[in-house]
Amino acid sequence: MTAQRIDGKAFAARLRERVGELAAQFEGQAGRKAGLAVVLVGEDPASQVYVRSKGKQTVEAGMASFEHRLPADTPGEDLLALVNQLNNDPAVDGILVQLPLPDHLDEQAIISAISPDKDVDGFHVINAGRLSVGQSGFVPCTPLGCMMLLADRLGDLSGLEAVVIGRSNIVGKPMAQLLLDANATVTIAHSRTKDLPGVVRRADIVVAAVGRPEMVKAEWLKPGATVIDVGINRLPPAEGAEKGRLVGDVAFDEASNVASAITPVPGGVGPMTIAVLLRNTLVAAYRNAGLAVPEGL
Ligand code: GUN
Repeated sequence: MTAQRIDGKAFAARLRERVGELAAQFEGQAGRKAGLAVVLVGEDPASQVYVRSKGKQTVEAGMASFEHRLPADTPGEDLLALVNQLNNDPAVDGILVQLPLPDHLDEQAIISAISPDKDVDGFHVINAGRLSVGQSGFVPCTPLGCMMLLADRLGDLSGLEAVVIGRSNIVGKPMAQLLLDANATVTIAHSRTKDLPGVVRRADIVVAAVGRPEMVKAEWLKPGATVIDVGINRLPPAEGAEKGRLVGDVAFDEASNVASAITPVPGGVGPMTIAVLLRNTLVAAYRNAGLAVPEGL
């Protein structure tokens, strides 16, 4: 079997285009652009790349981007004061504080300070709670993007066996919740799971979100499974090369011989995260402006 490649890059481009059309419509209705504020504390190189990319794509979608870059030694009170100012700014619909934060800052305290109605990352406990009881709130961008790819590929997920590998608050737990809401039978596997290959072999849907390069092998997979690879890991550089290759949590080449469909790394789940962030920001804008959220957003 040669698995179909699930093209997240193309899907994300279509989603951004749709968000762009609706962002223009929002501007016409509300008399202002939808706005996303991104806060970056410190100089983490990967975070700087993400933040630049978020700002660029926000503007390309016709929304306003507000970037706040603070030094690595910013005191907690100063960061809380900025979050509070953004909570009260009517031009700001979504607030994203880039993680990880420097060690001296309490991530949970900062996330809790963001207004749940502007928490477009979906990390606030109120939004995690809303997701777990089935109320509409904001759902973390990466798992929501994975669900969009799965729904596009498989349609109805009712009764399918899904195994999520990884139990983080940002991906694993919300992913499991979304699959459950879609009537899949869900198992969350993690580092202490006994016989992980045996558990994964039951799955019609595998979502790998552990951050271990090429951990999931072909022989772990049920023939015909759909595989969503959330991992982005850089291998050590080959001799003479400056940078190592990017790989996912799944051994892509061998898994492609067993799965029926699989997301590549790069070009699979990765591009979905920012596209969904823009989508969540526009949803926040409609809600904050007291306007109905358009169908299909
Ligand atoms: N760091 C890496 N990914 C993310 C994300 O989706 N949101 C935030 N806030 N920080 C991140």
